[in-house]
Amino acid sequence: MKQWIDKLRQERTLSPEELRQLLTGCDAETLRYINKQAQEVALRHFGNKIYIRGLIEVSNCCRNNCYYCGIRKGNPNIERYRLNLESILDCCRQGYKLGFRTFVLQGGEDPALTDDRIEMTVARIRQNYPDCAITLSLGEKSRDAYERFFRAGANRYLLRHETHNESHYRQLHPAEMSGKQRLQCLADLKDIGYQTGTGIMVGSPGQTVEHIIEDILFIEKLQPEMIGIGPFLPHHDTPFAQYPSGTVERTILLLSIFRLMHPSALIPATTALATLIPDGRERGILAGANVVMPNLSPREERRKYELYNDKASLGAESAEGLATLQKQLNTIGYEISTERGDFKRTTD
Ligand code: 5AD
Repeated sequence: MKQWIDKLRQERTLSPEELRQLLTGCDAETLRYINKQAQEVALRHFGNKIYIRGLIEVSNCCRNNCYYCGIRKGNPNIERYRLNLESILDCCRQGYKLGFRTFVLQGGEDPALTDDRIEMTVARIRQNYPDCAITLSLGEKSRDAYERFFRAGANRYLLRHETHNESHYRQLHPAEMSGKQRLQCLADLKDIGYQTGTGIMVGSPGQTVEHIIEDILFIEKLQPEMIGIGPFLPHHDTPFAQYPSGTVERTILLLSIFRLMHPSALIPATTALATLIPDGRERGILAGANVVMPNLSPREERRKYELYNDKASLGAESAEGLATLQKQLNTIGYEISTERGDFKRTTD
């Protein structure tokens, strides 16, 4: 197994068959080895600095009905909210004071958040914070909309493809959603010039090793600037309520594979991983992650943005908890960077 890991580190690629062996034959010792290799690569590219992104959850209203997601349209048991412009700007103001230089506006595909409204919001943030990066994570939009947001000052866009396999996509989403459309959006985003992020949930219902290999190969082809990898976690009010969570081991194995294949990519230690186990964030960083995204949403709304059960949004997962986060990072030899942390392709 180690020979595949060494090869992956050197050549940044493996054949589907080699990937299959790595994914199916990875015991505890192999996992420690690949995590270490990936950590070394991240240290070489980013030093011991972890970029922070302030996550502002702008709306939990959504027109979609994804079977895994707690804010799906078909969930009648959540209180819906939408932040107004002033309240988004307030979040930015607080975040800026705390040292954040990237704001991530994330939300469901909320029909009331029109293209005009998003464009105006981006323009205002751009005007107020010329030195900050603006990341959007608002789902599938038209190419024209993506272009308008970009011109208004957005720099980055997060849109996980969730799974590259058509039939698995069907298992996760109702028929009116299309995997092809999702991939088209990603192509548009890249083409427009966004630093583009994609990714998957690890251990989502129906996911096989073959699906994961497809995802790895797709990401290799797309060359996204950001890669978001977190465990699937069930939400009690969804059709997938009874499915088991993805595992820590598989999640950090994949984090390491992606780090070895994409040395300069921005890879977060996700909130889902931190929710799954108490030291999830640290385990993610020690497996090659270099970004964390503390929650900067208004306190009263946080609990309403529940994508999965018990989603962490307090302590080190929160913007007010930066001191706690800094301490936790220090214990593993890392520190927070308050740089914008744009993608830079590094040679070597
Ligand atoms: N478990 C883990 N991740 C989830 N997401 C949505 N629902 C869940 C869940 N139940 C992830 C999706 C989406 C991102 C914003 O959150 O991958 O792209």
